Amino acid sequence: MKKYLVTCDYNLEELVIEEIKQNITEATEIKQFENFSHRVSFLVPNFDKEKNNSILQKILSLRSIHSVIELKGSFYLDKPTLENLKEKIMEIDLSELKTAKSFRASAERYGTHDFTSMEMAKHIGHTVIMRYKTPVSLTEYEYNLRVDVIGSFVFVGYQITDDTLAHRQGNYNKIERIFHHRAATKHTLAYHLLTLAGLQEGDSLLDCTCGGGTIILEAASMFGNKIKILAGDMHEKAIKGTKENLKLNNFDFVEVRELNARHLEETIEDYVEENGQLDKIVCNLPFGIQSAKQVNMRGLYDQFLSSANKILSKNGKIVVLTMRQGVFREVIFMIKKYKITKEYVTEAGGLYLHIFVIEKI
Ligand SMILES: C[S@@+](CC[C@H](N)C(=O)[O-])C[C@H]1O[C@@H](n2cnc3c(N)ncnc32)[C@H](O)[C@@H]1O
Repeated sequence: MKKYLVTCDYNLEELVIEEIKQNITEATEIKQFENFSHRVSFLVPNFDKEKNNSILQKILSLRSIHSVIELKGSFYLDKPTLENLKEKIMEIDLSELKTAKSFRASAERYGTHDFTSMEMAKHIGHTVIMRYKTPVSLTEYEYNLRVDVIGSFVFVGYQITDDTLAHRQGNYNKIERIFHHRAATKHTLAYHLLTLAGLQEGDSLLDCTCGGGTIILEAASMFGNKIKILAGDMHEKAIKGTKENLKLNNFDFVEVRELNARHLEETIEDYVEENGQLDKIVCNLPFGIQSAKQVNMRGLYDQFLSSANKILSKNGKIVVLTMRQGVFREVIFMIKKYKITKEYVTEAGGLYLHIFVIEKI
């Protein structure tokens, strides 16, 4: 069996497990890795080279993950010393390195130890050279031997991804961008919001605070023109930037316009008359951090939710990402037009964010 470890957004491991279940049919024992947050592990059978590679391609195409490591072993340190770490690493089967053209070692460390991450990487690299005589290359390596020490727990594997998959800039789920909004949503979170909305072919989708368009770029990349997408923002710069981002990816089927999330029934009245009510509204609401003095978030949420109720179809869903969970919850209870069906807390850029899934009552 091969064991993989994927990293993901804080506290959303169960959603990642669901994506793996749906897309990697060969995977078994899919679970949060050793109860650590941000990490999910699973096993896949070891087939021939071609089939192993096709499974790896499916893993790298997952939309909810940041990085992939093929795990080779894990253990507990008896003493928090480099000597003990090296001894234990020597016991792990890293035979791929015997025939590898080159390798590099990288290290991450959390907790109190007698050594730094830099020292770890240097000493682990040295251990492998002594053991297998494999040449080191920091840039042109065939294997990136990755060792993580969390307190006294250590796991060792080959890091498959160099850059985070969450930026959609590599070969997998690639999305081109020229405009970046300063409060852009992470693509992995955009994927979760859309999945929690139950977005499916034939649906109509609105992001009424689109910023640089991450959520609709993700939706367009997932479904193409099999869904109908409307995006809008009240700021010209965001509208222009979103249009440019869409154009770069040839997502010409997405409509973008100026609108006010406080008055949706007025600002997109013509759209609803022509296309019918919306099935899904998915958005990352303004945080109000920079503009807290000017913007009354309670008023914004109240107006948004009241006006959204008028343009949302009977079985429609709204999924929002917000930092102001208390205010959002109060408004939901106050206006009595929706019920909260799911709620998650996650983290981005050091901020705790809430995901609410709500439906019309
Ligand atoms: C958190 S940002 C959205 C980021 C976006 N999801 C992205 O990835 O780039 C919130 C956006 O809401 C917009 N906004 C604030 N108040 C609005 C309103 N009343 N109507 C429409 N858009 C609004 C802001 O201009 C900003 O672009």
